[in-house]
Amino acid sequence: MNHEPYKLIPDDFTAVPSIERDEAVLRFVDGFDQLDAIGVLVPSEGEVPASVGLHRETLESAGFDGKPGTTLQLANASGTLVVAVGGGKPGSMDADSWRKAAAALVRATQRHARIGFELTDTANMDAERLGQVLAEGVLLARYSYETLKSRAKPTALTEVQFLAPGLDSDTAGSDRAAAERGLATGRVKFRATTIARDLCNAPPSHLTAAGLGQVSQDLGKRFGFTVEEFDKQQLIELRCGGLLGVNAGSAQEPRMIKLSYRPEGSPSGHLGLVGKGIMYDSGGVSLKPSDPMHLLMKMDMGGAAAVLAVFTALRDLGCNAAVTGFLMCTDNMPSGSAYKLGDVLTTRSGLTIEVKNTDAEGRLVMCDALTLAVEDEVDGIVDIATLTGAALMSLGQLTAPVFGNDQGLVDLVLESGGRADEQVWQLPLERAYRPQLDSDVADISNLGGPYAGSTTAALFLAEFVGETPWAHIDIAGTMQSDKDDAWRSKGATGFGARLLIDLALGYSAG
Ligand code: BES
Ligand code: MN
Ligand code: ZN
Repeated sequence: MNHEPYKLIPDDFTAVPSIERDEAVLRFVDGFDQLDAIGVLVPSEGEVPASVGLHRETLESAGFDGKPGTTLQLANASGTLVVAVGGGKPGSMDADSWRKAAAALVRATQRHARIGFELTDTANMDAERLGQVLAEGVLLARYSYETLKSRAKPTALTEVQFLAPGLDSDTAGSDRAAAERGLATGRVKFRATTIARDLCNAPPSHLTAAGLGQVSQDLGKRFGFTVEEFDKQQLIELRCGGLLGVNAGSAQEPRMIKLSYRPEGSPSGHLGLVGKGIMYDSGGVSLKPSDPMHLLMKMDMGGAAAVLAVFTALRDLGCNAAVTGFLMCTDNMPSGSAYKLGDVLTTRSGLTIEVKNTDAEGRLVMCDALTLAVEDEVDGIVDIATLTGAALMSLGQLTAPVFGNDQGLVDLVLESGGRADEQVWQLPLERAYRPQLDSDVADISNLGGPYAGSTTAALFLAEFVGETPWAHIDIAGTMQSDKDDAWRSKGATGFGARLLIDLALGYSAG
């Protein structure tokens, strides 16, 4: 009799994200050529661009009012679909609205491979930035996770042509060149986001901690960063009791994956990035109930995915800072060997932690990495984690709370979030709540009181960074979208990848 267990993971499976799949040509043109669909930006008042071929009354009677984010598809005899794309009040288009308009156009042309976009109202925009956000908008909106579907693949985007009469006027050539550079930058940021999304969308048994180590090695070779993997034995030697405690119940080995990027010249500063990599969060012996939210717990490695994604962009975008990343990876499972309520873990820092809830595991894996980043003498640490359900409850799926011990670094996170349209909002690190983490038997416990759960989790992390400037982004709410919405596609959003790339590119010490 053959007792070979059924394998969840096919032998030929590779979790490496399918980064080749979107090879769409993006370019600025002087005239459209051979397109399946053309989008035209139409403001909510004033003249309708001639290429739409209809009067405003006709558009209005069809229900199109030109509001940002709206589109109207206009089939016509030539066979090329024309799409009116809402531009809002004349003169109102900024970077966010261009990214959203580009995304709206792509969502209105899902079955079209070759798309044009006629841009009016570009006067307020820096040409390079315009190119960047247009590339992000069109490419991110066409993303969907198809790796495991055997049929019905969506139409790939093969070419997008941008017609921007406003760009070339007096500084002919240079605006155009800047806009093309922007397209290239946007594509790199899209590629990074796709990697983060693919890793988050991958089923939990397909992507283990060791598997993410392998993926990291492959990406490191390709995109110019080094990867060191620490297995269970090495983590024991490093005394990473937090990560090891959470891993105790798992049939899979843990991994700490350390990523290093070094610029060619002397670095402008040294940034540490820490990502929570819980490959699946069952809650452990504090088992989660089986409600639909918990099939999202395969995305509990969204922080680690975002950090890894950042590294795939640093060389290509010429980052001048040194960046060191720590991905803290294991699943959180109940079993005979699992850590228990009342257990006490000894962390690398020497601090002991009483486990009062095994489902508050994120802070336990993160703390050892924060200690290691401080030991590496980084100038600042940003950590990113799907840490608390309370973040989803308080700020929803569009905005991530950020906490920190250094207003300068928190401000950098807020500014980068604004530029990336990955919204973050600062919440206070209210030290008065710190006694909620007191323990009778250990230095600290992993569970706060019933209120302000995101804050008590942040206060726990703050214990491990000492005086090093530190900011913490809780992406439990923003890791995932319930629906296609502008540049966010249903499923994993890759939230944080573009924000942290922007932050790393502008980072300097002091
Ligand atoms: N991974 C979860 C947080 C989470 C919740 C992420 C919903 C995404 C969506 C985290 O490990 C967790 O279980 N947190 C607990 C902490 C509590 C036990 C103190 C929570 O938020 O309920
Ligand atoms: Mn948990
Ligand atoms: Zn978790």
